[in-house]
Amino acid sequence: MWRASGRPGVPAALRRLLLLLLLATREAAALEPVSVGLAIGAASALTGYLSYTDWYCRFAECCDAERPLDASALKQDLEEKLFGQHLATEVILKALTGFKNNKNPKKPLTLSLHGWAGTGKNFVSQIMADHLHPRGLKSHFVHLYVSTLHFPHEQKIKLYQDQLQKWIHGNVSKCANSMFIFDEMDKLHPGIIDAIKPFLDYYEQVDGVSYRRAIFIFLSNAGGDIITRTALDFWRAGRKREEVQLKDLEAVLSVGVFNNKHSGLWHSGLIDRNLIDYFVPFLPLEYRHVQMCVRAELQARGAVVDEEVVARVAQEMTFFPKDEKIYSDKGCKTVQSRLDFY
Ligand SMILES: Nc1ncnc2c1ncn2[C@@H]1O[C@H](COP(=O)(O)OP(=O)(O)OP(=O)(O)O)[C@@H](O)[C@H]1O
Ligand SMILES: [Mg+2]
Repeated sequence: MWRASGRPGVPAALRRLLLLLLLATREAAALEPVSVGLAIGAASALTGYLSYTDWYCRFAECCDAERPLDASALKQDLEEKLFGQHLATEVILKALTGFKNNKNPKKPLTLSLHGWAGTGKNFVSQIMADHLHPRGLKSHFVHLYVSTLHFPHEQKIKLYQDQLQKWIHGNVSKCANSMFIFDEMDKLHPGIIDAIKPFLDYYEQVDGVSYRRAIFIFLSNAGGDIITRTALDFWRAGRKREEVQLKDLEAVLSVGVFNNKHSGLWHSGLIDRNLIDYFVPFLPLEYRHVQMCVRAELQARGAVVDEEVVARVAQEMTFFPKDEKIYSDKGCKTVQSRLDFY
């Protein structure tokens, strides 16, 4: 549990002493948790002001399944930082707010993010993690699995399925509102992901553990072609990108991914059983969005936003389709490394 710091009435010197004691014991935590617990308990008893949990959670990360979501802060972050993704912004805000406001969810929240390279799928996962756990992606309760790193061999599917079930069971037992991100879903061998199907379903408990407060996010390039085609149709018809609606994409996306052997969700029971709550489309980024990424990166580096540099970096990117050259083929992905040359 996270509380506001300091309580009135504890003398400053005593607080400093206890702080030192705790920092020292924290260093030893990895070796000897029992003594650490006793030391913290003694410190708490000495003052009578702070509970064990208060002290412990001030220095170690604690799971707080009831931690509320600050929906307006999330909205602001998405609107200010995520460029050109009106659908993703809308769906993610709606999904997270609805899920966190629900005192008794019937299943974990499962989102599947799809889109072209460099359009912000990992970026938005980081924003979500930051709003769900104070330590964001560094939290012990946020887990990132990368297909090519964690599940590389096709002949080991059975082993990976067992491992996945154990990891997820273990992590949700420790913290009910754990977050799991599966990156590179399009490179995941077919069938692996179905191992987690029981956890995503409408069960109250599986083997004594409730998964209903957990969040599962899948990231994938699969379906990027479908999304691009739709965006391009709108563009060619002289319609604004912002006119693309979720209903123009959600159904085609889920069918497309289900029928795509290289989506990680090919013939997956997760789609069959409607266990994915939202398919979130990421539109391909245009020249003006790349410019926005360059400006944001310059600002993040504390540099002056020089419009000449912005234009030069954006012009270095390559755009498709061949004739119209509307969309950046790497999205904003190489902006950071390109800026190093200026
Ligand atoms: N829509 C966006 N708005 C703002 N910044 C973005 C956006 N898309 C990408 N970026 C920037 O580009 C970087 C790379 O994007 P990101 O890693 O999120 O792409 P991705 O969609 O996961 O691509 P891939 O499919 O290749 O993994 C981000 O860290 C961010 O700085
Ligand atoms: Mg990515």
